[in-house]
Amino acid sequence: MTFPRPTGRFVAAAAFLAVLSLPLFAAGSGEAPRSRRLEIFSWWTAGGEAEGLAQLFDIYRSQYPAVFIINATVAGGAGSNAKAVLATRMQGGNPPDSFQVHAGHELIDTWVVEGKMEPITFIFRSHGWLDKFPRGLIDIISWNGEIYSVPLDIHRSNVLWYNKALFSANGLRPPRTLDEMDHVCDVLASRGITPLALGDNGIWASVHLLESILLGTLGPDGYKGLWSGSTSWDSAQIRSALARFARLLRFVNSDHSALSWDAAVQYVIDGKCAMTVMGDWAEGYFKARGLTPNKEYGWVPSPGTAGTFLMLSDSFGLPRGAPDRAEAVNWLTLAASREGQDAFNPKKGSIPSRSDCDRSLYDAYQQSAMDSYRSETIVPSVTHGAAASEGWLASIQDVMSGFVCDLNVAKAARDLARIARKYVK
Ligand code: GAL
Repeated sequence: MTFPRPTGRFVAAAAFLAVLSLPLFAAGSGEAPRSRRLEIFSWWTAGGEAEGLAQLFDIYRSQYPAVFIINATVAGGAGSNAKAVLATRMQGGNPPDSFQVHAGHELIDTWVVEGKMEPITFIFRSHGWLDKFPRGLIDIISWNGEIYSVPLDIHRSNVLWYNKALFSANGLRPPRTLDEMDHVCDVLASRGITPLALGDNGIWASVHLLESILLGTLGPDGYKGLWSGSTSWDSAQIRSALARFARLLRFVNSDHSALSWDAAVQYVIDGKCAMTVMGDWAEGYFKARGLTPNKEYGWVPSPGTAGTFLMLSDSFGLPRGAPDRAEAVNWLTLAASREGQDAFNPKKGSIPSRSDCDRSLYDAYQQSAMDSYRSETIVPSVTHGAAASEGWLASIQDVMSGFVCDLNVAKAARDLARIARKYVK
């Protein structure tokens, strides 16, 4: 089995979180559950993502007024808590009707290969939608000729967001290269401004930053090769990326390990920090706070990564044994539809995965992301399930949990190389 075997402590924590999330299930809109229901499992609770989900629920309710929707969310960025709860439920034979899962290895290795999902090619085929999605995306949600999820969005991981007022007050331009990043950090720090916001109370946010640094150091082919085996993990470049990362950690807010990703974005909004590297769900957060792209906040590709789109996609699938299968199929149909995608993505900060959506509904950032997705080199995010199995990612996260404390480059490099030998096929 490719899914990491949960430890006793892991299972206990997951059970505890499952119990914590129960009132959410029951609460819904406060009405008593009706006979038809739909339970959707996700980790979308923060500004932007929660609004996007609510848009979809509104459309679903208008289409199927008799169905009671259970919004089964478990807070924690990147599914840091939700995935454990989901694993417990799936292992216990208690799947939700549909759940958020990243396209790529997370979907395929963890759930599809293990026989836990139903193929849903029929949804795409019956609506004539097979050619409405990019081929490369369909490929990573397919196995043995069948499609196993609906990609609701496409997110970009390698974005640096910055506070425009702070940058202009200090006569700075957002950093384009890793060297410029070092320079900008030095200048800001010398003026008493915390350069970089980080919220890694879930270690994934540090790994998120690391993947951008790896891409900026190795370039797209070198980065991609890390996951296929053609790039060695035992190299001076990896050690140099880790050394950069260690240096950057000196410029982050001191309370980073107590903050969530959205709280870190809020630090940028409040001018407590000048910039942050985060996926473009941060865009959804900025907008949920009433901000306008290019006015209060700006963006550039994370340093050294211009021309490459580090991608991930949130998708929804159909678990075998879904208690409300017909309602789940209707949900997936909505998620795959143009109407659903054009309602969800403008709030979420992502771009639609369908290629025929209405561009005019999207803001300046999102239109730039659409153009980038079409014209740039696309590489998969490891932090968000596209590039490698969850077992490999969990091991990388373990290494980074130690690294953010001891900043020991040689040790982290050795450990990452050892782990890669285990997982590269
Ligand atoms: C990612 C997910 C995004 C967003 C983010 C923060 O893994 O793909 O949709 O939710 O986590 O939670």
